[in-house]
Amino acid sequence: MANKLTGQPPLIQVEHLKKYFQVGRGRVLHAVDDVTFSIPKGTTLGLVGESGCGKTTVGRTLVGLYKPDGGKILFNGEDITGVKGKQKRALNRRMQMVYQDPYASLNPFFTVGEIITEGLEIHGIGENKKERMEIAYDLLQKVGLHREHANRFPHEFSGGQRQRVGLARSLAVNPEFIVCDEAISALDVSVQAQIVNMLVDFQESMGLTYLFIAHDLSMVRYISDQTAVMYLGQVVEIGDIHEIYEHPAHPYTQGLLHAVPVADPDYEQARKGERIMLGEVASPINPAPGCRFCSRCPRATEACKHETPQLRYVGGTHQVACHNL
Ligand SMILES: Nc1ncnc2c1ncn2[C@@H]1O[C@H](COP(=O)(O)OP(=O)(O)OP(=O)(O)O)[C@@H](O)[C@H]1O
Ligand SMILES: [Mg+2]
Repeated sequence: MANKLTGQPPLIQVEHLKKYFQVGRGRVLHAVDDVTFSIPKGTTLGLVGESGCGKTTVGRTLVGLYKPDGGKILFNGEDITGVKGKQKRALNRRMQMVYQDPYASLNPFFTVGEIITEGLEIHGIGENKKERMEIAYDLLQKVGLHREHANRFPHEFSGGQRQRVGLARSLAVNPEFIVCDEAISALDVSVQAQIVNMLVDFQESMGLTYLFIAHDLSMVRYISDQTAVMYLGQVVEIGDIHEIYEHPAHPYTQGLLHAVPVADPDYEQARKGERIMLGEVASPINPAPGCRFCSRCPRATEACKHETPQLRYVGGTHQVACHNL
């Protein structure tokens, strides 16, 4: 799977991306603070980290729902940072977002058919209502539902089925890039596997590129080509998924792997790693210089308190931000 990454031009390039929120009285929350990565066409970047580390903010900024406070976003080699008007509308079609709780994002007063065809209408896809409904029927089948489901309302579906509807709605407009934000986190394990398999199939048949957001590494394992681990607004480790699993180098990544509750011999090595994550989590508001993971890190030295570690290559595509490797 790793060789999928080589030879593919990047679809998404994020350079020194920053997104800050003003939270009153001169307090600035650094939700995304100098994040750089790139996603080759037709591949998946898994983005993991604990709650509040900035994953959703990265996703929302990428698809244009937030305006970045710094850095650049390139799509197909073109700088799209801060695009507006017609150009922005065209991008809205090409970049879609699928959410954790599709119920919250599916209009309860619309039938599934209406939900799927709404985007088609907005983007002028299909000649008339009949043609758009045909596209919707076809999509329902593609996501493992039936054409009869088009007349039903979101509350008539299970969580997994709603996620399929959400996916059909996103796929309807022929996107190139999809941000899956915890798209499987709320589902049963068996349903998670079905959705992941479906996403992989769509990726292959439609050449889709994904940013796949999840809390833990186990969820991104089967779908990612690369993985980025975030901690308090920053990427602390990134690389080929196998590298991250087999040779996790950042103490935080080692801790995340340690938390994987699976009796898989592959994980054992990592699970023998350092026991961490006991200390206090630093604040993303007006963060102090130095490594943000310092307060929880078993390897922390004096330098970590003062100097922010930068990502550096430790082999191949594998990059780690730690002073004490
Ligand atoms: N609109 C907003 N206004 C102010 N602060 C925000 C806003 N959106 C997010 N934040 C803050 O930014 C930080 C990153 O939030 P974000 O939702 O991106 O995290 P996350 O990694 O997606 O977390 P989770 O795993 O819980 O979904 C958090 O501290 C959050 O409180
Ligand atoms: Mg989130």
